[in-house]
Amino acid sequence: MAEKDDNLLKKIISHAKEYGFIFPSSEIYDGLAAAYDYGQNGVELKNKIKEYWWRAMVQMHENIVGIDASIFMHPTTWKASGHVDAFNDPLIDNKDSKKRYRADVLVEDHIAKVQGKIDKEVTKAEKRFGDDFDKDQFVSTNQRVVQYQEKINSINERLKNSIENSDFDALKALIEELEIACPVSGSRNWTEVRQFNLMFSTDIGSLADDSSKIYLRPETAQGIFVNFLNVQKSGRMKIPFGIAQIGKAFRNEIIARQFIFRMREFEQMEMQFFVKPGEEMDWYEQWKEKRIAWHRSLGMDESNYRFHDHLNLAHYANAACDIEFNFPMGFKELEGIHSRTDFDLKAHEEHSGKKLQFFDPQEEQSYVPYVIETSIGLDRMFLAVLSGCYKEEKLEDGSERVVLALPPALAPSQVAVLPLIKRDGLPEKAREIISSLKFDYSCNYDEKDAIGRRYRRQDAIGTPFCITVDHQTLEDNTVTVRDRDSMEQERCSIEELKSRISELTAMTNLLKSL
Ligand code: GAP
Repeated sequence: MAEKDDNLLKKIISHAKEYGFIFPSSEIYDGLAAAYDYGQNGVELKNKIKEYWWRAMVQMHENIVGIDASIFMHPTTWKASGHVDAFNDPLIDNKDSKKRYRADVLVEDHIAKVQGKIDKEVTKAEKRFGDDFDKDQFVSTNQRVVQYQEKINSINERLKNSIENSDFDALKALIEELEIACPVSGSRNWTEVRQFNLMFSTDIGSLADDSSKIYLRPETAQGIFVNFLNVQKSGRMKIPFGIAQIGKAFRNEIIARQFIFRMREFEQMEMQFFVKPGEEMDWYEQWKEKRIAWHRSLGMDESNYRFHDHLNLAHYANAACDIEFNFPMGFKELEGIHSRTDFDLKAHEEHSGKKLQFFDPQEEQSYVPYVIETSIGLDRMFLAVLSGCYKEEKLEDGSERVVLALPPALAPSQVAVLPLIKRDGLPEKAREIISSLKFDYSCNYDEKDAIGRRYRRQDAIGTPFCITVDHQTLEDNTVTVRDRDSMEQERCSIEELKSRISELTAMTNLLKSL
């Protein structure tokens, strides 16, 4: 299973490069770890994902507006938010391989292995007992499973305590006791565990002293919090209301692997929803529902998604969960939904000395609103779409094709217009069709190679429709329209093309399904 998944990620990485979706950053200099560039098709797909999120969040909600805050912010912002003091990861190096790891992740991977043993026992028992199998009863009574579970609970407890108390000696002792070895060297020759702040810093202006130190934002959320009052007053917003933003964030991740899943420069799509204190749990549930509906509307297999509730809550949260996606590496966090209480606004009040409150005319009093946050990584969403839509198909004639079965509204090009041959006026007719369609759709023109190969190229980038111009087109103004997924072709008049394409590719269809 692990091998198969590994291969899938490799295939997706090479497909993304071959078809102009994603390139390693500065590749001619051998690349830069954890930085990637979006190519000609990648940028189109990424922009469409952004557009779908923005329209679903801002355009579809009367009480949500957007902003675009700057990446550089006053340094005190990050003191107030807690990032200067607490945005740390515990790191550990293996002295033999010289590889660096997150100490907590090494322990979590060990826990996952023990969990794997439980899952194996359950699968075996399921097979043995068939329809009579009662999973809950089995896991609570089977001695081996109970022992594994106790082991997991005890490791979890010790991990939690060592992180909460910044007790890195205890964390190292735990790694040694569990006999965790470096996956590369296989040795247990570890350094001490050290704290590592994930924020990138630089100097602003020409002075390189402490007062000029400035950070690249590690999340977009703080740009929203510091603008809470500006937006509320200028937009005459009433609670409950939301502020949305899409933008770059930067984190000096210790381990940045797995393609665009964990990068040092990435993009977030975040929305902070300001509510009356006491009403936050209700809104938290509503936003969980709304966000999972947004994901499901894209038509990727339902079994790709699951919620994961946070058991160890951050000090400012009173509820939090992730929407996890079944990436080629397994289920991992795609989006977070957090009930952040009034922590951020209150912290900014304290550090700035400015009131960040809402006057409630009904209650006739001011209060600091509570916040529900939805936060999704755009690049992770891109990887989810790419991996969820990547299909290798064996065709009836024995040949194979790779198709990106993208939701039509997100495809980099909605239509490709292909003259059957490169002469007899067919290219000119094809260009004429593009001239009339290009105002509404991104179109592709291709006249090179046999038509079958051109269809395959369009399948590989996920173009939902191929329009072929042939000799009959010159006689009766009809073309063939080939559907990417069924590969069926139908004759259709040029006049009908627009309505036909928009019926299937309009983003409105997705928005209406929410
Ligand atoms: N404002 C809340 C916040 O930033 P987070 O869980 O740290 O919460 C939110 O990040 C989302 O940003 C994650 O669910 C993930 O999709 C994305 N993300 C976080 N770190 C990332 C990284 N290094 N590379 C790519 N995406 C990342």
